[in-house]
Amino acid sequence: MTDKVRLYEVGPRDGLQNEKEVVPTDVKVRLIELLAEAGLTHIEATSFVSPKWVPQMGDNSDVMAALPKREGVTYPVLTPNLRGLEAALDAGATEVAIFGAASESFSRKNINCSIEESLDRFAPVAELACENGVALRGYVSCVLGCPYEGDIAPEAVAVMSERLLAMGCYEVSLGDTIGVGTPKSMADMLEVVLDRIPVEKIALHCHDTYGQALANILTGLERGVRVVDSSVAGLGGCPYAKGASGNVATEDVLYMLNGMGFETGVDLDKLVKAAWYIADHLGRPPASKVATAMGKTD
Ligand code: HMG
Ligand code: MG
Repeated sequence: MTDKVRLYEVGPRDGLQNEKEVVPTDVKVRLIELLAEAGLTHIEATSFVSPKWVPQMGDNSDVMAALPKREGVTYPVLTPNLRGLEAALDAGATEVAIFGAASESFSRKNINCSIEESLDRFAPVAELACENGVALRGYVSCVLGCPYEGDIAPEAVAVMSERLLAMGCYEVSLGDTIGVGTPKSMADMLEVVLDRIPVEKIALHCHDTYGQALANILTGLERGVRVVDSSVAGLGGCPYAKGASGNVATEDVLYMLNGMGFETGVDLDKLVKAAWYIADHLGRPPASKVATAMGKTD
């Protein structure tokens, strides 16, 4: 089993989308630059969703235009429908993500349609993305619980994941959107999913609402998962998932991976610098143990 883990940074998108005050475009761009300088290769930069739904992402095209091209670094963006994909393509995106859910109620709250309708919307997005040579990722939300429906059957996660993969997604990221999972529920869910889907196609996306994210990620690593979504400074939350606090902090995940001997290509000191940069801008300390322990690194 490979000892490399790919960290997929979601701070500039999942992290910032929940901030009430609009963060200036140049601050977002500087944050992304610092994350790239730290060695992150996949940095989800923004989302092409309705600005009425998520005003914070209203500067999506401006963020994309300002990002420096860097060898080996991609800036994926969320695209819920064809309109979003077309705007993302115009903005030069080379990787996009479609995002569905394993919970019917969450699908309706988040993207205003049923699971089945969401798949109908994603199909042309996937087709056009593939025609344009754009990498396509998939998300499944609420894999360990839903704010509206409670427990979610692992079977529903597996089915949704298979359908996204069948549309051409190179991997599916399984989201514990409200961070309610524990190692037991993560293990139970993965047992069903990995029985049907190769582990190389699975990423984990854990929010840390109940402080379980690192333990849940470890549960995935032990089963061969090698892609982990995380958010610098532990920023984040989903505006359509009440009570969802930040994603697991990238620096906390990196500290654990370093200690376990996994290679990531990411520099912890530089990452902590990025965490403090955005925390200072937001006027509160980073919500991560590691950035707090290390303090400012320059
Ligand atoms: P809708 O209202 O059903 O769609 O929204 P519509 O087609 O009827 O359009 C409504 C309005 O939005 C129209 O404008 C459209 O033009 C506009 P109006 O005529 O009223 O002026 N519109 C758009 N504008 C810009 N870009 C677009 C776009 N599409 C329509 N792409 C829609 C459907 C999906 C657009 C809406 O529900 C939406 O934007 N939702 C936001 C969802 C979101 O961003 N959620 C947070 C990200 S997901 C997440 O955080 C979970 C994740 O992290 C994993 C995890 O943690 O589990 C990924
Ligand atoms: Mg999320």
